[in-house]
Amino acid sequence: MISPGSIDLLLNAAVVEDVVGDYVTLRRSGSRFKGLCPFHDEKTPSFTVTPTLGIYKCFGCQKGGNSIHFLMEMENLSFAEAARQLARRYGVELEETGGQETDEYKENQKLRESLQAVLDYAAGFFSTQLHDTENGRNIALAYFKERGFTTDTIHKWGLGYSPDDWEALTKQAQKDGYSLDYLEQAGLVKKRENGSPFDLFRNRVMFRLQSVSGKIIGFAGRKMSSTDPSPKYVNSPETELYKKSDNLFGIFQAKQAIKKSDKVYLTEGYTDVITLHQAGIENVVASSGTALTPGQIKLLRRFSPNVTVLYDGDLAGIKASLRGINLLLAEDLNVRVVSLPEGEDPDSLCAKMGGEAFKTFLQEKEENFILFKAKLLLKDVENDPLKKSDAVRDILDSVAEIRDPLKRTALNRQLAGVCDMEEALLSAELSKLVRKKTADVEQQTYTELKQITEAAGIEMPRETLTDEPQENAFLRLLMLHADKPFKEELTVFDFIMQELHNNDLLTFSIPFTQKVMNEIIRDDIATWPGQQHFVNHSDAEIASWAASVLSSGLELSKAFEDVHIYVLHEEDNYKHEVISLFLHLRRKKLDMIIRENMEKLKNPEAETVDILEYLEYLSFMRLKIANELGGAVFTM
Ligand code: CTP
Ligand code: MN
Repeated sequence: MISPGSIDLLLNAAVVEDVVGDYVTLRRSGSRFKGLCPFHDEKTPSFTVTPTLGIYKCFGCQKGGNSIHFLMEMENLSFAEAARQLARRYGVELEETGGQETDEYKENQKLRESLQAVLDYAAGFFSTQLHDTENGRNIALAYFKERGFTTDTIHKWGLGYSPDDWEALTKQAQKDGYSLDYLEQAGLVKKRENGSPFDLFRNRVMFRLQSVSGKIIGFAGRKMSSTDPSPKYVNSPETELYKKSDNLFGIFQAKQAIKKSDKVYLTEGYTDVITLHQAGIENVVASSGTALTPGQIKLLRRFSPNVTVLYDGDLAGIKASLRGINLLLAEDLNVRVVSLPEGEDPDSLCAKMGGEAFKTFLQEKEENFILFKAKLLLKDVENDPLKKSDAVRDILDSVAEIRDPLKRTALNRQLAGVCDMEEALLSAELSKLVRKKTADVEQQTYTELKQITEAAGIEMPRETLTDEPQENAFLRLLMLHADKPFKEELTVFDFIMQELHNNDLLTFSIPFTQKVMNEIIRDDIATWPGQQHFVNHSDAEIASWAASVLSSGLELSKAFEDVHIYVLHEEDNYKHEVISLFLHLRRKKLDMIIRENMEKLKNPEAETVDILEYLEYLSFMRLKIANELGGAVFTM
């Protein structure tokens, strides 16, 4: 146990914005810092760091705590481990007292520690093999030198060598006290069918795979001879410590430079990263030859939103990877591209040109991803109108991923030039695509918001649906779109009823709404009777309402007038409207709760700090909803 006194000392010494800042790009906002939460997926920052209190707090996923907690979460450490790591960093001496830790997850923790020890050992083993054996020096070190890696570089990256031997590591590690079981679980040793173990990495130069905090989590080995028929690279399998899809090669070495330059170069290969570093370009990572995963994108975004992809100059390869880039756009990253001359990769070109010339080359050749894609796709189809329209749609599909409408409009203008097409035509097509995509995203956001508001105990009591314009809008949505698909198996009608029911919203302020609802809900069961039921209704008020709604066509939705949101009643826009309606309701409810809490503050005996915290949370939620609603305005 660490004494509480020394924990206090440690927390006083630790600089929370630096501890967090190693993982998250923080921007100052008044007396605090804000950034994108590393613990959950989000597009707008909900994550705050308050230096005066030494704490962080995410208003989105509710995680919060001090510097020690942060390291525990981020690095999967126990309290004591995190405290010790922090103590080393800030030169604080921790006082250990008696007693013992009785954590349940000790088991898993022990496994992780054991695997870590094995991996650290293996890293040392491969280094020793490289530097201190004859074959290492003559074959592997010679290979690295031949590729232009300096001694500094070889040390900085902890490069190594696995000897041409089926059991070199297996035997030595066991001799040094590491169990076969852990060697296997760490992905270093495999077993034949008869159970006999063998080294995974043989006769290869070795690269370390490191986590964002620098821990060794696996290895990659490259063959040294082109006549060797085995695969060029052998990579560690996924293990308890190594999750391929959440990692990027070089992120540990690059993260400071990425933050500082607010930009990251994305390459494909291990050697690309190392060579560029050696040339003084340190804000570079590699996806290791596979398509980018959402986890990797999330990792990148923590450090900078500006991603420049370096493409090897192979046309087929470029075309294949174009799709993956849409993921980057959808995550709100600014994507630029540099395409390299045919047959070169960043490593080879940089070695050829020299670092300075390569830096200039990158600056000069960098271009907007979508314009790059447009030029590429249009090159082959100039004379074929059908193919051309396919290409244009493919391009617009990328544009539609961009969430910022201003950016989209600007790009669209440039694209019109590149495609030699009318801007108006393009933007009409684009709006369609955008609407489709926004509806999907909104559904996600809505679910997310709902979970958050519910977790915070914010329910929607019946008085929220009290005003007439909103009830009118709600009825009209039902009338026009009830039968249409909403999400998975649900129709619009199912969704609306489910929401009303979940929120106890089954009584209404205007009698007409109630009258219509009485047609829908009978004996507590809701069924949509169909448009014709209303049109042909014997009640004249209902019949004429139904007729006028059905013939209304394009119309400004009254419910949204107060916030100037104009909603087009177009076929593919209804999901958006349904969601907007419910978001509006939630916002109104939030406003009510905010007012209530403001009132409470007037009471001299109020728990002011708690209320202020709560109010801050409420206004944050309100802003988030407002952003969603605002973001939904279609300007094109
Ligand atoms: N890769 C892999 N397994 C392979 C081939 C490639 O894991 N059999 C991954 C590696 O991460 C590699 C990246 O894909 O770094 C890019 O492959 P490639 O361009 O073929 O290799 P380079 O990185 O250019 O390596 P080198 O310069 O040594 O040829
Ligand atoms: Mn290469």
